[in-house]
This record gives sequence, C-alpha cells and structure tokens, in this order.
Amino acid sequence: MKTTSQIRQSFLEFFQSKGHTIVPSSSLVPENDPTLLFTNAGMNQFKDLFLGLEKRNYTRATSSQRCVRAGGKHNDLENVGYTARHHTFFEMLGNFSFGDYFKQDAIKFGWEYLTSPEWLGLPKEKLWVTVYETDDEAYDIWHKEVGIPAERIIRIGDNKGVPYASDNFWQMGDTGPCGPCTEIFYDHGDHIWGGPPGSPEEDGDRYIEIWNIVFMQFNRQADGSMEKLPKPSVDTGMGLERISAVLQHVNSNYEIDIFQTLIKEIAKLLNVTDLDNKSLRVIADHIRSCSYLIADGVVPSNEGRGYVLRRIIRRAVRHGNLLGAKSAFFYQLVPTLAKAMGQAGEVLTQKQAHIEKTLKAEEEQFARTLDRGLVLLDEALAKVENNQLSGEVAFKLYDTYGFPLDLTADVCRERNILIDEEGFNREMTAQRERAKASSNFGVDYNNVIKVEGSTEFKGYETTQAEATVVGLFSNGKAVERIHSGESAVVILDCTPFYGESGGQVGDSGYISAELAKFRTNDTQKYGQVFGHIGVLESGELNVGDKVFAEVDAQRRQTITQNHSATHLLHSALRQVLGDHVAQKGSLVSEQSLRFDFSQPEAISKAQLEEIERIINRKIRENIVVTTEVMDLETAKQKGAMALFGEKYGDKVRVVEMTEFSIELCGGTHVKQTGEIGLFKFISEGAVAAGVRRVEAVTGENAINWLHQQQQVVQQSAELLKADSGSLVEKITQLQDKTKRIEKELQQLKDKLASQAGSELAKQATQINGVSVVVQKLEGVEPKALRTMVDDLKNQLGEAVIVFGATAEDKVNLIVGVTQTLTTKINAGELVGAMAQKVGGKGGGRADMAMAGGSEPQNLETALQFAQEWIQAKL
Ligand code: ALA
Repeated sequence: MKTTSQIRQSFLEFFQSKGHTIVPSSSLVPENDPTLLFTNAGMNQFKDLFLGLEKRNYTRATSSQRCVRAGGKHNDLENVGYTARHHTFFEMLGNFSFGDYFKQDAIKFGWEYLTSPEWLGLPKEKLWVTVYETDDEAYDIWHKEVGIPAERIIRIGDNKGVPYASDNFWQMGDTGPCGPCTEIFYDHGDHIWGGPPGSPEEDGDRYIEIWNIVFMQFNRQADGSMEKLPKPSVDTGMGLERISAVLQHVNSNYEIDIFQTLIKEIAKLLNVTDLDNKSLRVIADHIRSCSYLIADGVVPSNEGRGYVLRRIIRRAVRHGNLLGAKSAFFYQLVPTLAKAMGQAGEVLTQKQAHIEKTLKAEEEQFARTLDRGLVLLDEALAKVENNQLSGEVAFKLYDTYGFPLDLTADVCRERNILIDEEGFNREMTAQRERAKASSNFGVDYNNVIKVEGSTEFKGYETTQAEATVVGLFSNGKAVERIHSGESAVVILDCTPFYGESGGQVGDSGYISAELAKFRTNDTQKYGQVFGHIGVLESGELNVGDKVFAEVDAQRRQTITQNHSATHLLHSALRQVLGDHVAQKGSLVSEQSLRFDFSQPEAISKAQLEEIERIINRKIRENIVVTTEVMDLETAKQKGAMALFGEKYGDKVRVVEMTEFSIELCGGTHVKQTGEIGLFKFISEGAVAAGVRRVEAVTGENAINWLHQQQQVVQQSAELLKADSGSLVEKITQLQDKTKRIEKELQQLKDKLASQAGSELAKQATQINGVSVVVQKLEGVEPKALRTMVDDLKNQLGEAVIVFGATAEDKVNLIVGVTQTLTTKINAGELVGAMAQKVGGKGGGRADMAMAGGSEPQNLETALQFAQEWIQAKL
C-alpha cells in the first residue's frame, strides 16, 4: 500500500518524466494578489503565466500545492466533520501547461497516471468522467481515444443559474484565469450512499471527484466578460487526500495514514476511545490548516486572514472541549503533524516553536471564556423557538465570549438549529453606531459624578494595578453596567492612571476585566475620585467588577519627561531673566511642554540659547530626582517654589533636582534628569500683557524636531544648489539679484509706457487749440497711468488727457489737465462725474485726478461722456 507521501512523490515523478518542471508549493498567503484570501489551488502561483504577463524557462510544470479553502470564494469550513472529503487544508497535486499541450495530452496524461499498472493502476471501470456540456472535443477524446463508454461520460452545463456557473467551468475567483473543465470521479462502491455527478444523489460520498482538468482559455473580467488568454493552457488539480483514500482502500479521507496518525494522537491526548468521533476529525483537519497558516506568517487577529485563522483555532478548541479537554491540547499536535506530512512537513519543523507558541496563546485565551459562553448558549438553545437562535444571543457570544459566528453555527447545526443571521448583523451594526456616538462627549461630569470615598493613586510607583470598579457613568448619569461600544467614565477604588492636574494631562491606557476591555482616552479628577474616560471596546463592565488597569506606559514616560523638563525650565528662566519670573500656567502633554510666565519684554535669541544650554547641561548631569512629602512650612524653608494663589494642604509633595530646582508638585517625574535626553525650544511669544509663553520639546520629540529642521535646510540647500554652510550667503545673493531685476523691470516698464505715450500723443485731437486725448487702455496699473499722463502733458503743451483702463473686473480712470486750463476744466470734477458711470467714486486735484470703478462694461459710455464734456467746456 502506498503512503500519502509516496503518492505525492510518484505524481511529481510521473510528470517530471513527461517533461514537467517540479515547482515547490508556494505560501498559503498569496503574493501580490489582493483578489485572493488564501492560496486555494495549485494554479495560483502560476496565474501570471496563464495571463501571459510573465515568462519562465519552462512551459510545463508540476507541483504539490498546500491549499486552504476557508473564508474565501472556495470555502469548505462549514462542511468539515460532516463529509468524508472536505477539508480546510489539503494538498493539491497538479500539472500545468502554459500554452504548451492542450486537451488531448492533458486527458491522456491523467488517464495514464491513474490507470497504468506502472503508476497507480486504478481499475478503469471504476472511473467516471464529466465534461462541460458543449465541449465535444473533450467528449470525443474520452470516448473515442481513451475508450470510456458513453454511459460513464456525463455532460454538465451551466447548472448554477448563470452562464459559465457550472461544476464543469472552473474559475479561480471573481476575476482571473478560467475555463471549461473535465473531471474524473472514482466510484467507491455501492456500499456507500451517493449517485454519479449530475444525479440527485451526487452529494453523497460514493462518487468522489478525484481530478479536475481545466482547459484554461479565458481571463474573467470584473464586469463578467471573458477575455481570451494569449494561449490555451492547462491547469489540473487532484486532491492528494482523496487519491490516497482510493489507493489505501478507504472510503473517507479521514481514514488515510496522515489523518489516522493525527486522530490517534488526539485520542491519546484527550483519552478518547471512540476513534470515529466526529470531533476528532474536525481537530485533525484544523491542526493542519492552522499550523500551515501560522508557518506562512498568518497571526490570529480580529480581521482578514488572521480572523479566519482565529475562527478555525476556536472551532478546534470547542471540539476539544466536547471531547473533555481540560487544558491546552491543540498546540501539542504540531510535532506529530510535521512528521506525518513527510517532506511537506519540513516547513512546519522549521517553525515548530513559533507555531506551538501561537496556538497555545490563542487556545488559552479562548479557553477562559469558552465554558461560560457554552453555558449561555446551552441555556439559549434550550429555549429556542422555531428552530432559530436569536441574533442577540449569537452577538453576545461573539462580542463577550469571543465565539465566531461559524462556531456558534457549528454548535447549532449539531442540534438542527439555525441562527438568525440578520439579527446578528443588526446587533453588529448597532454596536458600531454606539461606538460612533461615543464621540458626543460634551457631558460635564463635574456635577454628575458623586462617589463615596476616594480613589487611591498608585501611579507614582507603577503603571499597572488591580482594582475594583466602584462607579460607572454613561450619558451623563450613574449606571450599574456598560455595554460594548458605549462611552463612559469608569471610577476605580485605586488606579495607576494620573488624573489631569498641575498642567500634566491625564493618562490613557486600558482597563480590562476577564470579559471586557475599556479603552481609557483621558483621566480626570472629580473631587476625591479619578474618572477614566473612554469607550468599552468589548464585553460588559459592571460596578463591582475586578479589573486590571494598565496605563499606556510609553505615553506616560514622554509626559513625565516633559514635566521634569518644565521644572528645569522654570529655574533656568529665573536664573537668566531674573526672579520676577513666576509661573502663570503650564501644559505638559506627550507632544510638548508649554510654560507661561510673567516677563515684561520679549526674550532675546541669546537669552533663549542660554536657557536652553543650562537645561541641557542639567540633563547631562543626570541629576537624581527626589520626591518627598513634608509640611508646607518645611517646604517653604527649603525654598521650594510654589504657585502664588494656589491652595496647598498641610502636607505637600516636594520635587527636588538638587538645589537647582525645588518645587511643590503632584505630577510624575523622571528618576534622573538624563531620561529627558534633550530639550529644545520650538516657540516663544506673548500671550497677554506682561506674560510670555515658551513651548519646547524633549527626548525623541526634540530629535524629530531637529531632524525636520535639518531636512528643511537640506532641501533648501539642494534647491539653491548650495551646501548648508553657504546657504545664507546664497540667499543674500539671490535677494540682491531679485532687487536688481525688479529695478530693471520697472525701468523697462517706464520706458514702454513713455513709448506708448508718444503713440497716444499722435492721436490727440485739437479743440480750440487744446490737445485732447480720450483713450481706453488695457491692463495698465494706476502708477503707470500717472506716468503716462505726466509724459503726455509734457509733450503736448496745453492738453486734456483722459484714460480709462481696465484690469480684471475693475476700472481705473485718470484725468490730467494742463495747469492753465484748470479754470475751464477741473480734472477732479470730470473724473468724479465719469466714476459715477462705472459704479465708482473719485476725485482729486484740478490738474490730476483719479477714480476707480467696478463696471468695466460701462467704460465706453464714461469715455464718450468725457469727450462731450470736454468739448462743451473748451
Ligand atoms: N484549479 C483547478 C481546481 O482547483 C484544477 O480544481
């Protein structure tokens, strides 16, 4: 009897002997193919060869490809455990022709491998074939050349409702290579229920499809149309497990060597005696897909590939639970699997430790909620009406207990109950809505939150603590419980979260209970208690729940650095500017620190540099920061800086960085100043009379800021083709050059204007010995207009000059009159009258006046008017 590994090997050898190159299996995660969730067929890795987009040095290939059919277009997850032949993971043996041989050779190779006594030697009378309804060519090859009797060749058409939707038309996905196919079936015998393909009993396990030969001819487009492939090609696929079942004379894939080894190992681990138990089969199937998925880089998560993996692991863990597993068992199957898979198991052995660790962690995480979820589900199932489980229960199981919908469906299926999926989706949408609504956070909780007792603050020593929920507030009122998606304020008996005060912002992080996760975005103090403000991301949280509170430690560290730096700043400011410097306000966040202080005048650059230098020196001194609680009086004697006007209790906390800085402060601080790393001012300015504000960054933020500045310098230098050293010189040169060019430009403009003026002089008309020019000009600036009028006056002697110029949607009018004529014609008067016609106003001296208007379309009228006006007056 041949083992599965031997069959795999023999297949590859057969096709190698027919001129095929053996190509190793590709990863389960398809490379560069967003259309595909997992590798689901041998041809996936050759997709571009079929499409003619890629060429290799072979036109015939053969492979044994690992495949997963779960969660994508080809999804068999739900059938695993219910049939003898469906798997989430399987190996597909295949031979491929990329524009090389076509139908005839493909069929003949397949037939030879299956029936030749030298190879598999299957009895010919047990084999049936199907062809695509209209594929007479394939039919004739089978019938006339291979010699299969007509009663064992079945034509299958578009039996799935639309064109090309057929068991005998294979396509990789909604788009991509596809074509009609011919399939070979093996008849396991009449002791098994089932009928030939196309018959009403075809879903039984008697006639099993073992080989599919696809005649690749088209590339299916997103709109459903079929584009011809450059060359007709061949893609075949034979399920290794199915052909092994045939050759090992068993009727179910689960009875072949690999599965039997696995099933026995699971039974041993879990003390199960009935080897036919369906759950053993499910687990044996699932350990294969899960192990290979993890080996190929998938990590359990809540979306995409990671979620499919999570669903399969959880389904396996549930079946382990059915078999009585008391602790993590699934991960222990990896070594047995790797060995049973023979050569194909090498990828597992290489990553064994990683696979085991990942599986174990996921298993343990789910085990914590599985039992409680199952109790809830059992209770709900006992009460089910109309054979339907409500969407709310399914959603609660999903949301609170981590039950993927198909896991719940699996349990329901065992009892012939369906899930109200629509209801489930409704709940899912409602949860999303709640999460969205959580942004309406305008409620002022100061008047709402009244909780007995106080919250003990543990955040000076730690960023993690166990605590109890003592109050919950949602939508402006106290509640006993909050639900997933809900935004709320959580009050704890003790907390490591710093509540905003003394300029230091509140902490963020997570508060988790066994079945709940609350994201804290901010922490505020309400009287004696700390309120954690945020959103419940999953589960349910109740008053009285024990929780684990964990501050986002990295964010806290940056805030802390900034706070300690603020103290150094305060002292350095006093040292450089004088003792009048008093703190007026501060804000210490994870991005930066801001400090407002009394200071009558601006701080010079030199002073800022000096302050920065002092602070950075203190950072490098790596001063140990001490905090001590003492009497207010003692603190004052020590010379501690306190905020004027601030109320302090009898006991105060004093933060000291040697005698350089001693301040009363309730904030969090670094252990040694070296942690601050670097201090850099980023702005300085005034906020109110006598109050200045400086802003600075520290540590990593300071370095990032410097990098950005450096980039600006580098980019500028590149643009100017200079290096950073000569940048200033280069810019000065450029400015000088610009000034020179502007001056030259102006001179040119003036010259042009005066030339235009000479032109205009020629067009002057004479009225009673006076030269009159009334002209419309385009796009001339007011300043140039004036020059033109002056020039003309000089040229023409006694003259009246009127220009109307349009620029964009404006009109400029100018009137110039020789001094001697001003008694007759007043420029100011004329321009004022004209301006009215173009929607504007204006006036000026009697010899030179200007006006503006907003109706260029009326300029002609205004000029006409001027012409008549002058005529009448002269
Ligand atoms: N690609 C074909 C299949 O998966 C051979 O059935």
